[in-house]
Amino acid sequence: SNKSNAREGILVGCGNPLLDISAPVPLQFLEGYGMNVDDAILAEERHMPIYRELVDGYQAEYLAGGSVQNSLRIAQWILRQPNVAVFFGCVGQDDYADILREKARAAGVDAHYQVSPDTPTGTCAVLITGTHRSLCANLAAANKFTIDHLEQPANKALIDNAQYYYISGFFLTVNPPSIMRVAATANAKQRPFLMNLSAPFISQYFMEPLMAVMPYVDIIFGNEAEAHAFATAQGWPADADLREIGKRLVALPKINSERPRIAILTQGCDPVLLIQHDKVQEFPVTRLAVHEIVDTNGAGDAFVGGFLSQYVQGKSLDVCIRCGNYAAGHIIKNPGCTYSGEPEFNE
Ligand code: AP5
Ligand code: NA
Repeated sequence: SNKSNAREGILVGCGNPLLDISAPVPLQFLEGYGMNVDDAILAEERHMPIYRELVDGYQAEYLAGGSVQNSLRIAQWILRQPNVAVFFGCVGQDDYADILREKARAAGVDAHYQVSPDTPTGTCAVLITGTHRSLCANLAAANKFTIDHLEQPANKALIDNAQYYYISGFFLTVNPPSIMRVAATANAKQRPFLMNLSAPFISQYFMEPLMAVMPYVDIIFGNEAEAHAFATAQGWPADADLREIGKRLVALPKINSERPRIAILTQGCDPVLLIQHDKVQEFPVTRLAVHEIVDTNGAGDAFVGGFLSQYVQGKSLDVCIRCGNYAAGHIIKNPGCTYSGEPEFNE
């Protein structure tokens, strides 16, 4: 199994290109910034010193990050054929942007960044406390993304040429009009549009733009915490379990009713749930021995990457999900959302 049979540019993703600054820190570090061990938040003014402090005072590592970029890099790794995935997002004009550009290129992702010359490239602090990680994203330039970028003729051609579209819930904090544009294009051309719930704060604070795009979403991804946050924000019964939440998610209004929505919910080492209509299927996860686990950072993003690598080849959902689990299992054995060696996924 060498090259895939996916063509160049078949997949387009939009998101926040972030450079992760990752370091083990003591609990007091989090407490000092009013953060919890499993947070995923956006940086406020009071969090801004975190990045300098991490670099100056701790063993900080720089890793390519940003949820959608992570997923596309993993998809490319499995596909073994460059430029199947195209990425749009906004960076600054600085060394961090150069690092991201190089990491995307090396991974085979065809990144077309908008550049905001006066704003630094976005970063995400990954604060590691034992087996937990707390994320604090300073979007900076990533937040400057505008729809003009998608309207550039060359970029518009890339969007028209794609067959699959993937955008994170995280991008809802940046530019909903761009999301709606891509969603409408996908719908007009009868092509799948995939989204991710991304983090509980998206459902808590960005439900309005999320519900505006939901009718266009063919496949929605999420983990347990994100699904529960969505359910709470919708006012669904507090005792609704993940299966029930999945069924309600797929039943939300949909523009193209001929292609019913699918929900794919991950739950760590417990089985992945695939929800279609009122049917729930489980896909087991291979448990890793404690000594095999480096960190679970990026597991959810890698799951989506593995899924996409098969989905763009027209594979069945069960192959896609098994590849998602394969990819997540692999990156858990590596720091952050990174891989090593050649992919070894067999259908
Ligand atoms: P992070 O939250 O670390 O990554 P993630 O991909 O969301 O991974 P999690 O570890 O949180 O997994 P999950 O809970 O989603 O999935 P689950 O545990 O169900 O985020 C990292 C990135 O986010 C960073 O690079 C950062 O840049 C980016 N980011 C942060 N803020 C952002 C923003 N505002 N905008 C854009 N980007 C932003 O697991 C999924 C699958 O993994 C399972 O189905 C299974 O296959 C596997 N798995 C999980 N646990 C185990 C286990 N113990 N054993 C075996 N397999 C496992
Ligand atoms: Na990892």
